[in-house]
Amino acid sequence: MEYLNRIISTKDWLNNNYDMNNIELALVLGSGLGSFVEHLDNAIEIDFSDIPNFKTSKVEGHKNKLVIGYISGKKIIIMQGRIHYYEGNTMQEVTLPIRVLSLFNIKNLIITNAAGGLTGEAGQLMLIEDHLDLFCENPLIGDNLEVFGDRFPDMSNVYSKELIEIAFKTGRKLGINLTKGIYCYLTGPSYETPFDIKVLKKLGVNAVGMSTVPEVIVAKHSKMKVLGISCITNLAAGISNKPLSHAEVVETTTKVSDDFIKILRGIIEEI
Ligand code: HPA
Repeated sequence: MEYLNRIISTKDWLNNNYDMNNIELALVLGSGLGSFVEHLDNAIEIDFSDIPNFKTSKVEGHKNKLVIGYISGKKIIIMQGRIHYYEGNTMQEVTLPIRVLSLFNIKNLIITNAAGGLTGEAGQLMLIEDHLDLFCENPLIGDNLEVFGDRFPDMSNVYSKELIEIAFKTGRKLGINLTKGIYCYLTGPSYETPFDIKVLKKLGVNAVGMSTVPEVIVAKHSKMKVLGISCITNLAAGISNKPLSHAEVVETTTKVSDDFIKILRGIIEEI
């Protein structure tokens, strides 16, 4: 199977060039949230463009680096930035890095994003309790990759309750207020209309964004434990009457970066 061969050749390339043993956790850093990597000890950076079958993102706030290093003695691997479906990538391309990481026996995945808030306010960090993904292409369409998981994977416990509990406990300890809510994935790249948001709000959605869910579905299929964290960077369309912009998204992530870094470090230490 051509796609599986690509996944395996990427894994082999990383294995041949870097020490990929004993990695305890993988972390995906979304738009503007990449500065966490500065807090790693003994970090090694690999450009996505040097990794076979990895693609790069042109979106501002995505550094396109895979970084391996340590937090309090724990070995972790970080995707500093990600590629998106709306950039013209296929769902298989978007989720290939997650497949590769799962082959290094990494059990835990923390996945982060910038999102528009339907409830709450800009600057809030929200743990993803569940997601809504009714309208988008499923990344598992195509031949099932039996080596990873079942044809029809169960999605009833995608976001680990145990990891959510650890995150809340860490937040209380550090005095950082976290909420929990439903993230809705839409492909973008246009932002939602105010009516989209009105409808989604009636459905119980708390945050909207253009990433994360394809990777999470693939991570679940690959038997990884997932914690999702959204940084609410702006109020969603029509909730405030300000026009939306990516500049505001990046500006808010910069403002919350101290809390974001503290909470991530705390959670990683506790996992
Ligand atoms: N909508 C979709 N994606 C986003 C938003 C938004 O308002 N903010 C940041 N990413």
